[in-house]
Amino acid sequence: MKLWNGRFSKAATSSADDFNASIGFDQRLYRQDVAGSIAHAKMLAKQGILTEEEAKAIEEGLLGILADIEAGRVEFTVEQEDIHMNIESLLTERIGEAGKRLHTARSRNDQVATDLRLWQKEEIDAVIALLEDLKGTLLSLATEQQDTLMPGYTHLQHAQPVSLAYHLMAYYQMFARDVERFADCRKRTDRLPLGSGALAGTTYNTDREYLAKELGFAALCSNAMDAVSDRDFAVEFVSCCALTMMHLSRFCEELILWSSSEFAFVEMDDAYSTGSSIMPQKKNPDMAELIRGKTGRVYGSLTALLTLMKALPLAYNKDMQEDKPPLFDAADTVKDCLDIFIKMLSTLTFKKENMEQAAKAGFMNATDAADYLVSKGLPFRDCHEIIGRMVLYCIGQEKALEDLTLKELQSFSDRFEEDVYDKISLRACVRAKRSRGGTSPESVATMLKE
Ligand code: ARG
Repeated sequence: MKLWNGRFSKAATSSADDFNASIGFDQRLYRQDVAGSIAHAKMLAKQGILTEEEAKAIEEGLLGILADIEAGRVEFTVEQEDIHMNIESLLTERIGEAGKRLHTARSRNDQVATDLRLWQKEEIDAVIALLEDLKGTLLSLATEQQDTLMPGYTHLQHAQPVSLAYHLMAYYQMFARDVERFADCRKRTDRLPLGSGALAGTTYNTDREYLAKELGFAALCSNAMDAVSDRDFAVEFVSCCALTMMHLSRFCEELILWSSSEFAFVEMDDAYSTGSSIMPQKKNPDMAELIRGKTGRVYGSLTALLTLMKALPLAYNKDMQEDKPPLFDAADTVKDCLDIFIKMLSTLTFKKENMEQAAKAGFMNATDAADYLVSKGLPFRDCHEIIGRMVLYCIGQEKALEDLTLKELQSFSDRFEEDVYDKISLRACVRAKRSRGGTSPESVATMLKE
């Protein structure tokens, strides 16, 4: 029988039950639901609203249900709609009267918001742990690759040479910001809705501070109406997930490019690559492509949540039951992607010679050659013009700037001297970017230390 049966003279059709139910996807909140109910029962007993015996029976009953759910011995029903009513009706089946008293001074509206926040705090901790892992992986790779040079790009065109360590540490910064964002989102997730009732608070002499302490919340939601209608925390979390996925997708895109024959900068480990069912020679970067693809799914979840909440009147509306699939999917996806990405990244091989060879092409020392002329007293704009003409000349001659003889160089500017060759070599170009946050070995060492 339904827990809210009293007011109804007709049962819902089974298709309406199916349509209305969220048990198919909210059953994963069973742990949080049991924890919230135990805390609630204890609080009710402490306040004299339930007897100690009733609270004890409820706690034991719920722990039994928890164990049975974990052992796969519980069958949920759509008739009981969601995880909250499934557990409550099971409890009453098992312990009788006391079970019926559990829902005193509580509503499913504050219950579901509490379960979700409890769940989300754990997910945030798990995502942060993975991000910290990834940061650690990047740090050790960067430490190993301080001497590896590669082309730095803008517009995907050769721009200036950089070290691989430097390139990797750019990603480190992105994931470090992600950690900060998740931690910040956690602060706003860490407020307790329980005790808000349906929307207006309750008539009972409850102790919400006690509930917060029992459930490990840092603070209370301070307006009951907001507490039950707010899903900002979920939107924020999925938005943090979307940003992390965006960062992963950029990294994956580079790894996909780098593993092509045209670049040949990396070789993915066989364990994280796949073959083709028709072309025997193929080794495809499927993991990286899938992460890139799954980014779209997480963006979709963010859009779904934002659209779901748009223009909803206060307070709870059943629309909000639809928050769970995108929220859960975003968390699962970002965790899966981080996990596989870390494994893929830590097992791939960087083809250092190819990277360095590529860094020699494309006149990437042109800016340094201009800087050289600046050091000899010419204004930067004039130097830019001179080097531009030299590049054009070199393209015609199929030469690099450093291949020109001193005589050729001096035909463009009399400021060129023998020392220019040292100043525009690949390593010299990288070494000279000494500004804080630049690609010179010292600046990168500082980054690694920080
Ligand atoms: N299954 C519902 C949800 O996930 C629980 C809250 C239902 N509250 C209500 N008044 N119908 O949103």
